[in-house]
Amino acid sequence: MARKVIIDCDPGLDDAMALCMALFDPRLDVLAVTAVGGNCSPAQATRNVQAIIEQLDPPRWPRLGTASAPDDGLPVDGRYLHGSDGLGDSDFEVAELHHPHPSEKLICDEIRAQPEGVVTILALGPLTNVARAFARDPELPSLVGQVVMMGGAVAGPGNITPTAEFNMYCDPNAAQAIFRSHSTKTLVPLDVTNRVVLSYDLFNRLPDELSKVGRFLRKILPPAFRGYRQQFGLEGIHVHDAVALVAVTQPELFTTEEMAGDVEVTGELTTGATVFDRRGVPAWRNNMDVAVDMRTDAVIETIIQGLNDAARREG
Ligand code: BDR
Ligand code: CA
Repeated sequence: MARKVIIDCDPGLDDAMALCMALFDPRLDVLAVTAVGGNCSPAQATRNVQAIIEQLDPPRWPRLGTASAPDDGLPVDGRYLHGSDGLGDSDFEVAELHHPHPSEKLICDEIRAQPEGVVTILALGPLTNVARAFARDPELPSLVGQVVMMGGAVAGPGNITPTAEFNMYCDPNAAQAIFRSHSTKTLVPLDVTNRVVLSYDLFNRLPDELSKVGRFLRKILPPAFRGYRQQFGLEGIHVHDAVALVAVTQPELFTTEEMAGDVEVTGELTTGATVFDRRGVPAWRNNMDVAVDMRTDAVIETIIQGLNDAARREG
């Protein structure tokens, strides 16, 4: 039976790529796609989620959730890499949503509508919505099957500050609430996602423009190559969220370790940093699985294959 997932995301190029794979994957039943501010503003993220679904027109449309600002506002955004609209300056037109559903409410409703432990939340952006859903319905952490999160860093540096990863930094209080919640969690941190770089060669292996998936990806991705070269001297782009999706569909490609993790919320230089008690005799209790290694080549092939399969399944 297909695995039921809610994808919470801030599209974002790599969020969009993860959606391209997920929405056509018969192993997944995507119940809802909920927007959150991060790479772009909450309003833009909401438009982008809608635009992605309209552009791809998957066989089964998920319910859509609308984003609102985090309590402390967004400290930063990702437009320097993801383009002025978060989708490579594509400026897709979208119809007005007549019955907007706030993301956190949709998350609660969808989990409540399914048997206990069945729904996976795949969180690809700041954890604002998931934390609000957990605050709104305190039983939710035990009703959700698993929360898989892209974010944080264990052994390496951050990517938006020297210590913090972008998703954690955007809403550290929300991230801390999720880390401390009694839910089953898996973290897919930068330590593994940084290893995947979509090079020009890999870009050329994406589906062609005759397919909706190919047309969409070939429109949104090219401007990012310049951004990554200018910012990081990299000849390719990171696709963190696509890696996190593979951790859901093919967990056997990853090695995980149980860890005790928390998030810094008040540090002058370290706000949003993920902290793990890795002392010989730890005092904190393990609260999540963390992806510490993966078969990188196999993950890359899975992403390319997944996108080509998606194009073939468009119908
Ligand atoms: C994360 O930050 C965002 O910019 C990406 O979409 C990804 O979710 C990587 O740090
Ligand atoms: Ca993201």
